[in-house]
Amino acid sequence: MAKRIRVKDIFLAETDKNYTVMGWVRTFRNNQFIALNDGSCLANLQAVVDFEQSDPALLKRITTGASLKIEGKLITSQGKGQSVELIAENIEVLGDCDAEIYPLQPKKHSLEFLREIAHLRFRTNTFSAIFRVRHALAFGIHKFFNDRNFVYIHSPIVTGSDAEGAGEMFQVTAFDLNNIPRSEDGSINYKKDFFGKHTNLTVSGQLEAELGALALSDVYTFGPTFRAENSNTSRHLAEFWMIEPEVAFADLTDNMDLAEDMLKYLIQYVLGHCAEDLAFLEQRLLEEEKQKPQIERSEMALREKLTFCLEQPFERLTYTEAIDILKNSVPNKKGKFQYPIEKWGADLQSEHERYLVEKHFKRPVILTNYPKEIKAFYMRMDDDDKTVRAMDVLFPGIGEIIGGSQREERYDKLLKRMEEMHIPAEEMSWFLDTRRYGTVPHAGFGLGFERLVLFVTGMSNIRDVIPFPRFPGNAEF
Ligand code: 4AD
Ligand code: MG
Repeated sequence: MAKRIRVKDIFLAETDKNYTVMGWVRTFRNNQFIALNDGSCLANLQAVVDFEQSDPALLKRITTGASLKIEGKLITSQGKGQSVELIAENIEVLGDCDAEIYPLQPKKHSLEFLREIAHLRFRTNTFSAIFRVRHALAFGIHKFFNDRNFVYIHSPIVTGSDAEGAGEMFQVTAFDLNNIPRSEDGSINYKKDFFGKHTNLTVSGQLEAELGALALSDVYTFGPTFRAENSNTSRHLAEFWMIEPEVAFADLTDNMDLAEDMLKYLIQYVLGHCAEDLAFLEQRLLEEEKQKPQIERSEMALREKLTFCLEQPFERLTYTEAIDILKNSVPNKKGKFQYPIEKWGADLQSEHERYLVEKHFKRPVILTNYPKEIKAFYMRMDDDDKTVRAMDVLFPGIGEIIGGSQREERYDKLLKRMEEMHIPAEEMSWFLDTRRYGTVPHAGFGLGFERLVLFVTGMSNIRDVIPFPRFPGNAEF
């Protein structure tokens, strides 16, 4: 094809020269003004058509959604609203679009409707902005870790380990489900399955990342994870992406420092690289908030909220301290929590996390040293034998964005904890080996990528920040 210039670049290109652009028609006004978008940036390029000189049959084919190749001269714009415009000299329709049935009309569509046409929603301002921001965040994550000499580990997606899964795993099998091989006792004979054993989709790359960290010192994973939990909420997906750094020779404080540095770096990165998209998303959010009752509206605009998080040190406190605050809080005393906080040991719900962040501290919070009963087997036991060196990072509007811990590096303690939690040591010998052969203190965490994108874009449903969401009852596209 002819060499084309992207719309993003043409705004900075020299005028009074000829260029070729390609993209999709957003609108075509008065048989004269084409708003063309190619997804390279939010703004449309205005191409001006000389309708008196143009073939009427061609003009008819310039409809919303059609794809065009336009060649013409770039001039300083005479009209308001744009700096330059392209005087079209040659227009070629690459793909027609029947405007009568095209689902994306040039008007406002609800997010729910757009979710049903996720294959086309990339073409809207909102979703193209979200996915450019998502890209920038992904790129920023790799840059952050690469600049700090972390090694990117590709942990497996099909896993033979279900230690972390706790019944929330999707099984992977090549069996014909109508004819499953059975052993003599009637149980399923996984030895005959593809991998010769029972396998699942991974819920986390952590255990494998630990193996990497105990040789390469600083590693991270960034991959898809799968959870078959039946959480039909605006914060959960069945398939989501997770970033899991794992660091040798590190304790819980190092882990908190890394998490805080990383989140601040990423927020800063997006503020620096996605200014136009953030300004648009901020406006979108303001309009959405206008629909809400006054008390539910956010006090801060999007970019103000992002900057605010950068400037504040995250509040760090223990679970035990948090329980005291929650127990004595007004909503708890007035019975406003759906799950009242009665005693130490209670698992924290999103409503409690958000109270701490949004009402009490008014900034991101890192909670540490949770009761061992509500955390995973691999977290390092505290000296009191009651709490473990866990940490959750809680964000405004989101709740938990990161979960992590210092790991139990002491062989005997880890084995004991596995026994208590009925995790068969034989199946985890590879994991235990790292504690047998040159174990070291180490720590890591998992950042839910979509929760970060949700926070940065100011969207309110996680299904709108991943191109094709998977959730109970839905695996379209
Ligand atoms: O707290 P989680 O379950 O931690 C782990 O999986 C550890 N192995 C991480 C580690 O230490 N390496 O999950 C980590 C984060 C959560 O804080 C949340 O942001 C996100 O993953 N997350 C989800 N995001 C979307 N949909 C879901 N169903 C999620 N479940 C967890
Ligand atoms: Mg968690």
